[in-house]
Amino acid sequence: MRTLTISTPGRTRPRRLRRTQALRDLVAETRITPAQFIVPRFVLPADKGDEPIPSLPGLSQLGIENLLEAVEDELKLGIRSVLLFGHPEEGAKKTPDGALAWDPNGAVQQATARLKAAFGDDLIVMTDVCLCAYTDHGHCGLIEHGRVANDVSLEPLVRTALSHAEAGADVVAPSDMMDGRIGAIRDGLDAQGFTDTILLAYAVKYASGYYGPFRDAADSAPAEGDRQSYQMDARNGLEALREAELDELEGADMLMVKPALAYLDVIQAVRNSTTLPLSAYNVSGEYAAVKAAAANGWLDEAQVVRENLHAIRRAGADQIITYHAADAIRGGWL
Ligand code: PBG
Ligand code: ZN
Repeated sequence: MRTLTISTPGRTRPRRLRRTQALRDLVAETRITPAQFIVPRFVLPADKGDEPIPSLPGLSQLGIENLLEAVEDELKLGIRSVLLFGHPEEGAKKTPDGALAWDPNGAVQQATARLKAAFGDDLIVMTDVCLCAYTDHGHCGLIEHGRVANDVSLEPLVRTALSHAEAGADVVAPSDMMDGRIGAIRDGLDAQGFTDTILLAYAVKYASGYYGPFRDAADSAPAEGDRQSYQMDARNGLEALREAELDELEGADMLMVKPALAYLDVIQAVRNSTTLPLSAYNVSGEYAAVKAAAANGWLDEAQVVRENLHAIRRAGADQIITYHAADAIRGGWL
């Protein structure tokens, strides 16, 4: 029989620090607290309502009363931020300019006012500022000569942001990707005295297949064409730094990268190029893919969500916008 000479490890043994859960927790490099979560919510233009979203298992579009209850439950878990998406009133006609987006009695505006009245500064109300759920063509800006036109889209976006600020939103988050909208909205807010309304810029937003389930929920898919003339090309990373820098110069208080998981390198690069707080949006398709695989028994949801959320933090995001937040906290998945 041959004698094997096997060299033993040197003095350094990384496994020492992995022996017990307590040791692993002691040396964990990344942590996520409930206060870092931002929960997206779909608001129905009604007092009561709970309509499950088939493409987003476990999530519903909620009437305002139901929303108040859901938010209260999450506050008890320590989740203090919501990001609201709305719908036009039942029967209201969408228009080319998306005027329903700045209706003071719209779902988002009403929900914002009710949430702030109920929870005050315990809750941070963020609102998505865009036109696509309110335009008859489903694009995030206005159409001129068959194209999504940039500069004429700014005024309706400013109006929309203002209507959210007037309702009491703490944070407005423009997701349209028109050039110059951060500066235009900052000026518009300041001119009306909303100097403390925070601007969270969807600074780096890619044209992504991962928005599919969201568009079903928000009924915001473009009737014709796609969003590639305004959202970013997935092949580009340096361009993300330009977008982030522009939004910072225009007065953004916080920046966002979206989606998150297919863009972890971008999150890291943006993190290293700015000192502003950085959020990442773990989008609907990223959630739906995990839920579908878990429902089939192909993935362990708790384990995979834990990995995904920590990957986003490890890449450098400070806040995570995710549909998994409450499940992850309730289940002790983190
Ligand atoms: C609308 C908007 C979208 C999302 C947030 N705001 C969809 C899109 O740009 O088509 C996506 C959110 C998600 O997929 O979870 N501008
Ligand atoms: Zn949009």
